[in-house]
Amino acid sequence: MLRVEKVSTFYGNIQALRDVTLRARRGRITTIIGANGAGKTTLLRTILGLTQARHGHVFFEDEEITKLPPERIVRMGISQVPQGRQIFSELSVEDNLQLGAYVRRFKDRAEIQRDKEFVFELFPVLYDRRRQTAGTLSGGEQQMLAIARALMSRPKLLLLDEPSMGLAPKVIQSIFKTLFELHEKGLTILIVEQDAKIALEASDYCYVMRTGKIALEGSAKELLENEEVKRIYLG
Ligand SMILES: Nc1ncnc2c1ncn2[C@@H]1O[C@H](COP(=O)(O)OP(=O)(O)O)[C@@H](O)[C@H]1O
Ligand SMILES: [Mg+2]
Repeated sequence: MLRVEKVSTFYGNIQALRDVTLRARRGRITTIIGANGAGKTTLLRTILGLTQARHGHVFFEDEEITKLPPERIVRMGISQVPQGRQIFSELSVEDNLQLGAYVRRFKDRAEIQRDKEFVFELFPVLYDRRRQTAGTLSGGEQQMLAIARALMSRPKLLLLDEPSMGLAPKVIQSIFKTLFELHEKGLTILIVEQDAKIALEASDYCYVMRTGKIALEGSAKELLENEEVKRIYLG
């Protein structure tokens, strides 16, 4: 579904991604683990066209998207849950969801309403708090809102940047349970995580990033047994 081929991305003359090649297969959960600064966020931003790749190509459903503007890419079916949620804290929960649907401005309101009902069913707590400003939500609820907002553009591929960050284990569990439900419904998911244990337990296939490069890859089972992964990432 998504193919990243030999992508290199720079910030000025600092190289953040080096020849990164990976794929996210349709209907699977793929994860990328790596320490802080490894290039995980840069990779997601490059896929979405928020940061330009200097070399290499990105394909989504066999169409090249490398140089397309982010809005086009979202409209084609890729949506992201950014690192640190980045919800609009002054706006209500419901208005945050409405903004997630902006790429579909030509679609009818009834359809957007149905999608809102879908995400409220997925996260009932958001329905209870729909009129509250998003800034008053707990960290876990804000993460749920960020996921719900991303779903409002009806993605085929959902990118998540460190969804577990700063959350209690119980809350993380509940969020991943919802991600598995979405996966069951056919959504393809790509997650980047610093927490290797969570990532490996959740995924079918996993890549390990180190200083802008893919250092290792394999099935979650293979990587859980890999000595280096055990030593460095699973402590
Ligand atoms: N806007 C930026 N300007 C310059 N360097 C950046 C910028 N964003 C990230 N970097 C650098 O790129 C590298 C990768 O960062 P990032 O993609 O955020 O890693 P991760 O998400 O894995 O923590 C780091 O060395 C970081 O300092
Ligand atoms: Mg990051």
